[in-house]
Amino acid sequence: MKLHDVAVVGATGLVGRAMVAVMEERKFPVNRLVLLASERSVGHEIAFNSKPHPVHKLEPDRFKHIEYALFAAGATVSATYAPVAAVKYGAIVIDNSSSFRQDEKVPLVVPEVNRKQIFKHSGIIANPNCSTIQMVVVLKPLHDAFNVKRVVVSTYQSVTGAGKRGYDQLHDELAGRPPKEKQFPHQIAFNSLPHVDIFFDDGYSKEEFKMMNETKKIMGENIRVTATCVRIPVTGGHSESLNVEFEKKCTSEEVREVLRGAPGIVVQDDPKNNVYPMPLSAFEKDDVFVGRIRKDETVKSGVNLWIVADNVRKGAATNAVQIMEALALGK
Ligand SMILES: NC(=O)c1ccc[n+]([C@@H]2O[C@H](COP(=O)([O-])OP(=O)(O)OC[C@H]3O[C@@H](n4cnc5c(N)ncnc54)[C@H](OP(=O)(O)O)[C@@H]3O)[C@@H](O)[C@H]2O)c1
Repeated sequence: MKLHDVAVVGATGLVGRAMVAVMEERKFPVNRLVLLASERSVGHEIAFNSKPHPVHKLEPDRFKHIEYALFAAGATVSATYAPVAAVKYGAIVIDNSSSFRQDEKVPLVVPEVNRKQIFKHSGIIANPNCSTIQMVVVLKPLHDAFNVKRVVVSTYQSVTGAGKRGYDQLHDELAGRPPKEKQFPHQIAFNSLPHVDIFFDDGYSKEEFKMMNETKKIMGENIRVTATCVRIPVTGGHSESLNVEFEKKCTSEEVREVLRGAPGIVVQDDPKNNVYPMPLSAFEKDDVFVGRIRKDETVKSGVNLWIVADNVRKGAATNAVQIMEALALGK
């Protein structure tokens, strides 16, 4: 089996650490693992396959001989260093930031949805936003079966979607301490904020914009999505309420059957016995969980659904490692 030289940029962050853990769990064949972060993390070590690996300061020549560079250090770092890794050192970059997602030359990939796009890269492949990933995993099989016309989505997003600082703010507030750094503009403990990322002049947030536009790039221009994104005081796992309207007629049982057979999806739908997806049960899992599947009687054909996935796993790290696995397999 061929072994690969891999770099993780942002290795000390929530996504970077999960990337290292997912590579180990899935037994990705690594020869050399290079862990990179800011100067603050020099001297730290992270275990991979039971061996401590030092964290180095991110510098261009760290990408020498690297085959795959997984980026999880924010948009500014990606914009500066992803081209260095890809163009100067010939690595294939899989980027978790929003830097390249709308770039025409950069495939935006969720392997369960548009795997073939992986092989059309010119050095950089983008991972979609976490809220988009879990939604399109569910929309794709439904679109293939019933033609999705329009989607109305509301999200209930965990604080880890905003990285370590989001996690720390919630835990400081719960412990009654003033947060060291404020990630959210208001208290998040015991609260919910209809505010994820910055706002544009039209009133939408950047997170809502990403869900609407990334879905089009991944699934085609004809899909219409409108979104409201909300931050809630949950530690890990984003939940989404989806109202989906179809061209073709279908029953809620047919929708359930299509989802049961789809890759990366687990149907948890027995509400009378308290069975439905929840962030706590999705935590550290790689699947997308779907439940509360019920017909929307206000349209000719449509359903309401409840979707939950671990934003750090399938929403970021697992999706990136799946892309790297496909590249390594060549299919
Ligand atoms: N969290 C999620 O659910 C999620 C989902 C999808 C996509 N993403 C994206 O993934 C990326 C990482 O998110 P995260 O949640 O893991 O953030 P995080 O927990 O805040 O971690 C940020 C990482 O970036 C590193 N970093 C920051 N500035 C750097 C610099 N100037 N040079 C080198 N390294 C630097 C940090 O290193 P130090 O520890 O040394 O500061 C840390 O390793 C972001 O682009 C985010 O939008 C996150």
